[in-house]
Formats: sequence, structure tokens, C-alpha cells
Amino acid sequence: MHARAIKTGIEAICCVHWERRLFDSLVPLPDGTSYNAYLVRGEKATALIDSTDPDLRDELMNQLENLETLDYVVSQHSEQDHAGVLPDVLARFPSATLLCSEKASEMLATHLHVAPERIRVVADGEQIALGGKTLQFVYTPWVHWPETMCTYVPEAKCLFSCDFFGSHVATTDLFVTDQALVYEAAKRYYAEIMMPFRKVITRNLERLTALDFDMIAPSHGPIYDKPAFILDAYRDWVSPTMKNEVVLPYISMHGSTEMMVKHLIDALARQGVTVHAFDLAVTDIGKLAIALVDAATLIVGTPTVHIGPHPAVYYASHLANMLKPKVKYAAIIGSYGWSSKAIEQIAGLIPNLKVDVLGTVLQKGMPTNETYAQLDDLASAVAKAHADDASVVTK
Ligand code: FEO
Repeated sequence: MHARAIKTGIEAICCVHWERRLFDSLVPLPDGTSYNAYLVRGEKATALIDSTDPDLRDELMNQLENLETLDYVVSQHSEQDHAGVLPDVLARFPSATLLCSEKASEMLATHLHVAPERIRVVADGEQIALGGKTLQFVYTPWVHWPETMCTYVPEAKCLFSCDFFGSHVATTDLFVTDQALVYEAAKRYYAEIMMPFRKVITRNLERLTALDFDMIAPSHGPIYDKPAFILDAYRDWVSPTMKNEVVLPYISMHGSTEMMVKHLIDALARQGVTVHAFDLAVTDIGKLAIALVDAATLIVGTPTVHIGPHPAVYYASHLANMLKPKVKYAAIIGSYGWSSKAIEQIAGLIPNLKVDVLGTVLQKGMPTNETYAQLDDLASAVAKAHADDASVVTK
């Protein structure tokens, strides 16, 4: 898309990837995505903040065609979707200097073969004067790679945050117009990309909010001209507070596990606990990740294949372990044909989750009245654990 002004002397070049449906061959993109680069024009110098994904190289380069000079290129994050076209930008503007963090200088050299002599490392807090505008760099490591940093332009009260606060949304909207849509996309983004770094994000959030800005310009999705909306959302997501919710990924082969899952869902609902159930045969893993942001309990439902859990449950358990949600309680239910090690194997897949196991219900064959009674007891144990835990909001 054409460059559009977001502040005096600052333009956004939003490269919208309408048709992309998968990121990193892993993350579903139901709404596509965008990669935003920003031109900051001072009286003496001009800077470009980030580039775009190599798939949309021409979208960015066409917008830079009529630019006479470019003095600086800021790389806030070395991942391909923002840094992949930096070599083209540096070739187009041979006198431009690439500004990045110390860690990024190594990564850009190894990942993209950027010549070291084109790179100038900037320190945390360092300022570069463009004339009437200043680039101030704020190191924000592990949001979500070790080298990530943000850029603040105090004269414009604008914070450029790269992936931080981003949302995978393909849109022509320059600014957030549909808060509900962006909230869902930003929460999905947080869940899939940022959640494993919740503690460090909390610290970075505090550092950034000490700055005086009225706009956040991320490198994915629309720009926040009312940043309180996304700052409040992030504060909520990273807070230790959990909701009175259960996330229940499951799969069933011949129906027995499904019968148990459906009974447990009903029992939990009768106890006032909200359940987010996901049939792993058809689910969007992004939705599962979103549900993990707030829930207090994870319950896994699996049949036994040979002697272990279904492979889809392996995958979901590994994913939950990687994402490190703030769940505090867990349980495992399911059925088996003749023998099973499913419980031990699932427990071994989630060492990162520091959970109290509230119960396991493993049934040989179809559930019986006794199985259903055990599931009722499990629902009561979940409701009680939530009610007794001051960090779980039950009202
Ligand atoms: Fe949008 Fe971590 O790249």
C-alpha cells in the first residue's frame, strides 16, 4: 500500500499480506497479516524503521523508489518478516547506516549476511538526532527474540514497537477502528508469540510505559492512536490473575473419550466454571493458545493409541508446555482399550507447567456410571481449587 502519514513527518508503509494463512509454518493466520515499515523524516536526516517480509519486497521497494536519500535504517528485530528486505534497502541506499542492538548485529550478519561495515550498534537509551526529530532506542529483549528493541520519537510522542503489541490482521485501516477485532488478533498474537516471555514482557511493559507517547506503531496490524486499549490488554494478559476457566483440548477415536469430555464439560458448567473445549481433530491451535492466556486449569482428554496418548494430544501438550501459560491446575481424562501409560506420558510432556494435578480419570472402554461419578468429583475439585485460590477471579 502507498505510504500514509501517521504524524507530521512520519509515514507508515503497510505491506498487507492478505492471502497468507500460516506463519513460521506453524502459526495460523485466519485474518492474514501486515508488515509495517515507517519513514521518519527529520530536517537533516531520514530514517526507515524496519522493512518487510521478502514475499512483499516490491511493495516496500516501490514506496522507496522516489526517496532521494536515506540516512538510517533501523532494525528493531532480525526476524525475516521485518528484516528480510533490509539487504535490498541497503543496496538501494548505499550510504545508509543500519542501526540495531548489539545482539541484532550478530544476527543480521549471520541470518541475512548484512556486511558488518554497514552496521552501527546503538546502545539502550541512545539517541540519534534527525533534526527536529530524535530516534531514541529502548532495548526490549525477548519480545520475542533476544535482540528486540523499540524506537521512541519523543517530539512526535510515537513509540515504534515492532512485534510488541502487534496483531496479525490484513486491513486497509491505518489505525484501530474495530477494537474487538484487533483485541482478538492481538491476543492471539500474544498467546502464540509472546506468552512464553510473560515475565520479561512485564518488565518491558513497565519500561515503555514510563515514556510519554500517545501512539504505538507496531510492525503488524493497525496502529494504536489510543494506546491505552492495548496497554490495558497486555497488563491483563501478563498479570498473575487467572479466570475461572478450564481449557480442555481433547480427541476421541471411537467416542468413549468424547462421552467423558462432554459429561465433564456439563459438570463443570453446573459448577459455574467456564470451559473452552477444543476437539484437536479440527481445532485452530491459535484459538487454543488464546484460551490458555487466562485459564486457571488445563484438562487434557485423550484415548490411548498403543500405550500412549493420541499423537494430536502429544502435539497439544507440547505446545501448551512451550507457551508456558499461567495455568495452576491440571487433570487428565480418557479411555483405553487394554492398557495405558497415557497419564505418565502426558505428565512428562508438560514440565514447564507448574501445576497441581487435581485428578485423573482413565476408563477402560466405555464410561460407566462410576466413571461419570469420578468426573463429577473432578469438576467439584476444579471448582473448589478455583474458589479457594485468591489469584482466580470467580465472580
Ligand atoms: Fe513479526 Fe518476530 O516477527
